Amino acid sequence: MPVDPAIPLRAWGGELHWFHELDSTNRYALDAAASGAPAWFVVAADHQTAGRGRLGRVWQAPSGSSLLASVLLRPTGVEPARRPVLGVAGALAAAEAVEATTGVVAALKWPNDLVVGERKLGGVLAEARGDALVIGVGVNVEWSEVPPELEGIATACNLEGGRPVQRRALLAELLVRLRDRVDDLDRTLRDHRYRLATLGRRVRVERADGDLIGRAVDVDHFAQLLVEVESGCVVEVAAGDVVHLRDAR
Ligand code: BTN
Repeated sequence: MPVDPAIPLRAWGGELHWFHELDSTNRYALDAAASGAPAWFVVAADHQTAGRGRLGRVWQAPSGSSLLASVLLRPTGVEPARRPVLGVAGALAAAEAVEATTGVVAALKWPNDLVVGERKLGGVLAEARGDALVIGVGVNVEWSEVPPELEGIATACNLEGGRPVQRRALLAELLVRLRDRVDDLDRTLRDHRYRLATLGRRVRVERADGDLIGRAVDVDHFAQLLVEVESGCVVEVAAGDVVHLRDAR
């Protein structure tokens, strides 16, 4: 199994497996968890043939263009209802790592999208099996151009920062920050608010049980988005897609 010597392994105290190609790094990490792999086991790939996105979508990226990595956690001290905060930790660590290594300031769109303006730079998919939680992170790192069908919808670090980006350096930075973020979930939620472009915005939340329109007023202890609707009620949203709307003041 290939271990990349270029990453300082002791920086986050785990083991790294970097593949040229996998179906999905999340699938691999979940299977490794079931076989007893320890917390902070990390798997990355240059290319995924069946990358998974949120809400059952696929996540596709040309080979070598993206950071595609999954981190196995065993958060036994975190109550199950609070596990979504670990996904927030992943998104915040990724945004901080992008800023530190590329200079690109990525905001977050609830729940865990990295965005520049309204264009998506990356995303996080957290998946659980038993007491294991896998945080999968995809970041668009090095694109030659924006494909026409993603014009205005997606972007990449090199296009925003104008300089080449090393995926391995980005991963190393992300892992060190993730360790910190996972260690203090209350602070993570506090800091998350400063990066969360969704807060204060009028939003449409597309949920399995119907759309909701209102203003995003806060994120609670469980990483749920709190949306104030026209009647003045505040609705807790645990899952869905957020669209930032133009303000109708
Ligand atoms: C999203 O839909 O925004 C989340 C995308 C998460 C994609 C990453 S790429 C690495 C990891 N492995 C997967 O199969 N998915 C996640």
